Amino acid sequence: MSSQETQRPPIPSTLIVRGGTVLDQMGERRADVLIQDGTIREVAEGLHVPAGATVLDAEGCVVAPGLVDLHVHLREPGREESETVESGSRAAALGGVTAVVAMPNTEPPLDSPEAVRNVQRRATDALCEVAVAGAITVGRHGEKLAPMAELAALGVRLFTDDGSGVQSAGLMRRALEYARGLGVTLAQHCEDATLSGNGAMHEGAWSSRLGLSGQPAAAEEVMVARDIALARDTGARLHFLHLSTARSLDLVRRARADGLPVTAEVAPHHFTLTDGCAAGFDPVFKVNPPLRPLHDVEAVKAGLADGTVDAIATDHAPHAPERKDLPFDEAPPGMLGLETSLALAVSELDLPLARILALMSWQPAAIAGLDPGSGGNQGAPVAAGSLANLCVFDPQATWVVEPRHLASLSRNTPYAGRTLRGRVRHTVFRGEPVVKDGEAQR
Ligand code: DOR
Repeated sequence: MSSQETQRPPIPSTLIVRGGTVLDQMGERRADVLIQDGTIREVAEGLHVPAGATVLDAEGCVVAPGLVDLHVHLREPGREESETVESGSRAAALGGVTAVVAMPNTEPPLDSPEAVRNVQRRATDALCEVAVAGAITVGRHGEKLAPMAELAALGVRLFTDDGSGVQSAGLMRRALEYARGLGVTLAQHCEDATLSGNGAMHEGAWSSRLGLSGQPAAAEEVMVARDIALARDTGARLHFLHLSTARSLDLVRRARADGLPVTAEVAPHHFTLTDGCAAGFDPVFKVNPPLRPLHDVEAVKAGLADGTVDAIATDHAPHAPERKDLPFDEAPPGMLGLETSLALAVSELDLPLARILALMSWQPAAIAGLDPGSGGNQGAPVAAGSLANLCVFDPQATWVVEPRHLASLSRNTPYAGRTLRGRVRHTVFRGEPVVKDGEAQR
């Protein structure tokens, strides 16, 4: 459906989420949630259902603040056959996500006010909030800074050349100095290109066995170490995207202990899959940074458990079949994430649900500058007075990932056929039930 054809159902003026367990940063309690004209009016047990109200049954479900995904590729403009703002936001809603940060490695990249405004315009009708990340450098070429102040004036809070790292330490230092002055955050894709080269997977026993070119863990780690030194030097806020190795996380752990303003995210595929998945040469398992050996996967889980990692972010990277289905070493890196991330976290992490929600809702909301503390409405406690952005999910329900049933325009999920626990039942975005009983409403 194009946005022109989309029939937007009227937003119910009164909505009640009934019979669930509210779980947010304030704790856990059994409560119904009454929403009127988009705003939460009352949170209490056994609320009276007003005449004409739309009821969302939440029996057996957790009612949480909407999830916030810091790392999503929406492919618009330039690769609309793979994803659009509309299709990606629908996938987000189905995953319980009420805000995404859209990466700027589009074609052309989001390095100018016009480019940012264009995506912001397309996002006005999306099924979730779309916060646009701006490029750090013009064209993401790593040579000249993008007009960061102009982009910040349009509301851009996160800057990144994701897809590649900023190779020049001098330029990165200057970008951090600007970022500090503007009060924005730089998000680094840590990859030293002189080390990663054309490596199609992690350099190790599996790459040798398969005869595929590898990129060493050090390609990531040297940039993490370098940027921690630059964060120390400049005092600017720095966010590390999709960290994947034990040593990267150790570096962040130490930087945090030193009180540096650095944050880190990890992607679900880095705590659920290993480099051995490449054994069948299926390009669906090609991603950047690459899948790592088991000890790194265990370290990612440990980082999530001990608070070194602040957020789970998907790096949702749709690629249409005609682009992705190539020999492993020629295929583009990237895998889908939005519709499976909460279930993967619930199924695979030995963490309390409250911790998982912190990692997927209010902590990333704060990093993106979308939290109530920054004047935004994301990751807010489920309480009267907040704009209603909610994720209602059944933590016990199991389901099988079926690529054909995903809302993304692409099919490149590495979890096809996998049984997961934890299913999103309803998603409420600004008071609108955009997902009801597992179905997108537009
Ligand atoms: O696997 C990846 N795919 N890693 C990135 O950094 C970029 C992304 C993409 O844009 O496809």
